[in-house]
Amino acid sequence: MSNLDTKLNEYNRLVEEKMQEYLSKKNIPEELQKAMAYSVFAGGKRLRPALVLAACELFCDDLSKALPFACAIEFIHTYSLIHDDLPSMDNDDFRRGRLTSHKVFGEDKAILAGDGLLSYAFDIMLDNLKTSNEINAAKYISTAAGVNGMVAGQWIDVSSNGKNINEETMHYIHMNKTAALIIGAIKAGASCGGASNEDILTLENYGQEIGYTFQIIDDILDVVGNDEDLGKLTGSDAANNKTTYVTLFGIEGAQNKAKEHTENALNIMNKYGEKGQFFNELALYLLNRKK
Ligand code: IPE
Ligand code: IPE
Ligand code: MG
Ligand code: MG
Ligand code: MG
Repeated sequence: MSNLDTKLNEYNRLVEEKMQEYLSKKNIPEELQKAMAYSVFAGGKRLRPALVLAACELFCDDLSKALPFACAIEFIHTYSLIHDDLPSMDNDDFRRGRLTSHKVFGEDKAILAGDGLLSYAFDIMLDNLKTSNEINAAKYISTAAGVNGMVAGQWIDVSSNGKNINEETMHYIHMNKTAALIIGAIKAGASCGGASNEDILTLENYGQEIGYTFQIIDDILDVVGNDEDLGKLTGSDAANNKTTYVTLFGIEGAQNKAKEHTENALNIMNKYGEKGQFFNELALYLLNRKK
């Protein structure tokens, strides 16, 4: 097993266990609990929580402070997927290898399962604000999730359906709907680990590069990916008449852009030498991923 896989597995174990603990709290109505757990435990890649923990570990061996934030961001990400798949948004039937939430529980309950995960994430973060590092972590995540991040990106994304948009707008959409949460995860983790402002800025720059790459590859996979590997059906972007990196630049053009941004990410992490190995391996894995 590669160093990257070993680390990802280690982070995964911690996060799965803690998310189980959060979602098995007895005072959540049973059906709501079931609907939230259905989407959370469907087997996502857990990239964002891994980034929270890895960024913390770059500065501090104790991951316990970062763990609640890792779970919170995965809950926020999962809510964003439930809502993204709704008939009124991308109208998709499969996610993480299962029927989408609204297909199983109905649209009303899928919306509420998403709302439940989003608000629970904030509850978890507020329960863990012991020092200014954690207050900053919560702020990074809340900014990334909302009107200056993911929600803003999704807004422009759905507003652009059926329209020809230029590279600048495409850049805005990618940076906000996808890169923002990835950057927020890294900054939150680094902050929990006690990183300096300068280090947080370096990691933000790295996050921009891999976050941007992540959505370019997502757009490519929506055309050439394998449904089973992805756990979602390809062709969603075309069905919604979306301008994507692929419609703008073609598959090869998009791949070249993704390579460029990955190179930038590797150059930025040079600063950390051997200590940055996880981040370097991750950048390459995200460039070559098939799911
Ligand atoms: C899908 O995210 C949505 C995008 C931001 C492109 P992921 O590809 O990380 O989804 P999971 O968490 O592995 O299911
Ligand atoms: C969605 O982008 C990003 C989110 C904020 C959920 P996509 O709509 O391309 O994500 P997928 O392809 O459905 O996972
Ligand atoms: Mg979408
Ligand atoms: Mg979608
Ligand atoms: Mg997509």
